[in-house]
Amino acid sequence: MTLTDTRPTVLGEPISLTSVSKTYQTASGTLPVLREITLEIPAGQFVALVGPSGCGKSTLLKIIAGLVGYEDGAVRIGDQAPREGRRDIGFMLQQSVLMPWLDVAGNVGLPFAIARRTGQQASSRVHSLLEMVGLDHASAMHTWELSGGMQQRVALARALALDPGVMLMDEPFSALDEFKREHLNIEVAQMADQLGKTTILVTHSISEAVLMADRIITLGANPGHVVGDITVDLERPRRADMVSTARFQEISNQVREALALEKTEEYNL
Ligand SMILES: Nc1ncnc2c1ncn2[C@@H]1O[C@H](COP(=O)(O)OP(=O)(O)OP(=O)(O)O)[C@@H](O)[C@H]1O
Ligand SMILES: [Mg+2]
Repeated sequence: MTLTDTRPTVLGEPISLTSVSKTYQTASGTLPVLREITLEIPAGQFVALVGPSGCGKSTLLKIIAGLVGYEDGAVRIGDQAPREGRRDIGFMLQQSVLMPWLDVAGNVGLPFAIARRTGQQASSRVHSLLEMVGLDHASAMHTWELSGGMQQRVALARALALDPGVMLMDEPFSALDEFKREHLNIEVAQMADQLGKTTILVTHSISEAVLMADRIITLGANPGHVVGDITVDLERPRRADMVSTARFQEISNQVREALALEKTEEYNL
């Protein structure tokens, strides 16, 4: 992966959540999902969110992206409230949601097409993004010809296309096998360092969180609330061999302890 051609035009923006609460109205009544979430994320920080299934992690990402509303509190990205369709937020999901009628380059270039920014500049940006995620050889491939890891690389390149200040990733690696996953963990962590994006990663894997993040926020459930805020002081750039260090194990244990009151069998320990 090379980053030489993909210098950031926008550095990360800070994210600020102040006492954010969210309730869904469902057929069976009112469901409180998040309770008074307060979180200050400085520009460029890489945060992992870990917590039990259903505690509101995806909802929190959608609130930050401006895709769902909230009743109480305040959300700011830089000095702005979230709003739908912001181009300075990259969103990556568990399933990569690629368009089967477009080839790899077409999928990565989709944000430019939607923004009606086609032409030489857009296509050279698509090319350098594909290079960055190691897929420059695959630009004309169909989406159904790609492995799971390749699909997530395309989704990553697409999320980075408009050079967002904020990257939101909702379990982006969970469908990959262990080996591919660790490989992408390292690559994406290094890329995030170099691009300076503010990043929030939702994961059920404690080791993925420790390997990638500067800071791990643990959530409890019913409704979702912050239970732990753990600093990951491993040096950067991160490397796969850090997993076997004593410090890595110590931090993993801190995360485990912070989640101890929750259903720990859900996590990949
Ligand atoms: N659009 C919706 N309408 C009603 N309820 C919803 C909606 N989206 C999510 N919920 C409910 O809100 C709660 C939190 O859901 P959310 O998807 O945010 O959890 P999560 O922490 O991401 O879970 P997982 O780890 O399984 O992905 C769940 O009880 C879910 O059923
Ligand atoms: Mg979720």
